Amino acid sequence: MSCSEIGFLWIVGVKPGVRTRERVRASCADGGAVESVKQRRRRRVGVPKGVGHQNADYCASLVEGSYAPGSGALAGKKDLVVLGIETSCDDTAAAVVRADGTVLGDSVVSQHEIHQQWGGVVPNLAKEAHAAAIDGVVEKALQKAEMNPEHVDAVAVTTGPGLEICLRIGFNAAKEFCKAHRKPFVAVNHLEGHCVLARMLHRDLEYPFLVVLVSGGHCQILVAEGEGIYALLGGTLDDAIGEAYDKTARLLGLQVGGGGGPAVEQLALNGDENAYDLPMPMRDKKNCNLSYAGLKNAVRLIAETDAGRRSEDIAASFQRVAIDHLIQKLRTAMKWCEARQPGRVRSMVVCGGVAANQRLRSRLTDVCSDFEWKLVVPPPRLCTDNGAMIAWAGIERIQRGILDNPQLLEVVSRWPLSTRLVFD
Ligand code: KG4
Ligand code: ZN
Repeated sequence: MSCSEIGFLWIVGVKPGVRTRERVRASCADGGAVESVKQRRRRRVGVPKGVGHQNADYCASLVEGSYAPGSGALAGKKDLVVLGIETSCDDTAAAVVRADGTVLGDSVVSQHEIHQQWGGVVPNLAKEAHAAAIDGVVEKALQKAEMNPEHVDAVAVTTGPGLEICLRIGFNAAKEFCKAHRKPFVAVNHLEGHCVLARMLHRDLEYPFLVVLVSGGHCQILVAEGEGIYALLGGTLDDAIGEAYDKTARLLGLQVGGGGGPAVEQLALNGDENAYDLPMPMRDKKNCNLSYAGLKNAVRLIAETDAGRRSEDIAASFQRVAIDHLIQKLRTAMKWCEARQPGRVRSMVVCGGVAANQRLRSRLTDVCSDFEWKLVVPPPRLCTDNGAMIAWAGIERIQRGILDNPQLLEVVSRWPLSTRLVFD
């Protein structure tokens, strides 16, 4: 299950930390400037729905730590070992990772069964389940790594984006661990975790690279320019692709525990993908933006009105269009990169839960081979939320000399990687 499924259940308001808010204000040099509708639209491309004006200005660098005693020594430590903790949605996960990219131990407790009957993540139940699981998950990750807390050099934890009440469980656990064992703390953006995991798996992956972030709550095409620096080429104007999969699954009455994507993908295997002529979104637009709301509504219409429908055919037709749309926009993004500076960007990293989709993976392989780019997609198990990606993002931040002071931080529900649109 994913953050998209929280949609109608989401009751958590945006309540960023005071320190962060001050920094955002301070960082908005053009704070009072009047913005045209077009400028505003450009600025908000790919920004998740419901993100307020001010919160859209978050970026990774804004919450980087001012607290760095000992960070110099840690940054250069060859055998640096970081414990990563993740509780942003419905997986309680932890992992112990070493700076050479070895996952020494990991553990995940999934809440799929708890939320299954509700058709989406119920925040309070999720919070309770995280609270019940967190200590055991951390212990198990350490046990698998054959380590005790003393062996860990630092703790990295997801502080956003996600459900605040869930994020806080991991955040508090990390804070307590650091206090009890006198360890440094580092805050991690969940989306950055998904992106940089590719660098843990492929140690030779150099910046810049194209990032395709496709999850339940996010759908963006970015260029990772360097550590913590992302430029936005395009993103969804409404629903994320994972969200469209989840809604299609619900409309077809499929199991949505663990997200509707796998169920739709499975069903589509036995369907005729040309059975329904679903509309291809934004076909005439020359930019890299995406839209899945129209496709979702078209599926709803068929599901509600076509009495003789075959669910397999709907699933297959939906999947064909959903993936073709993404591929079309990726081709535009790749052409743009090549036109801008030929040969500068040569790799594509695909991350987020939808990257587990086999059909998408095979289409991406073809596109990358056409452009002679390298394709980096984590194994399906690491596409969904896990502790290793948080530990690794923590390692990269520590290596940049960053540590955070947990006393000055709060969790944040919205925290886009970038809102700086560079596509023109
Ligand atoms: O990154 P993730 O685990 O959670 C967040 O949303 O952050 O992504 C979950 C999303 C869900 O929407 C789920 O339906 C989708 O990824 N997903 C898939 C597949 N596996 C997971 N979508 C299509 N095909 C799949 N095989
Ligand atoms: Zn995720």
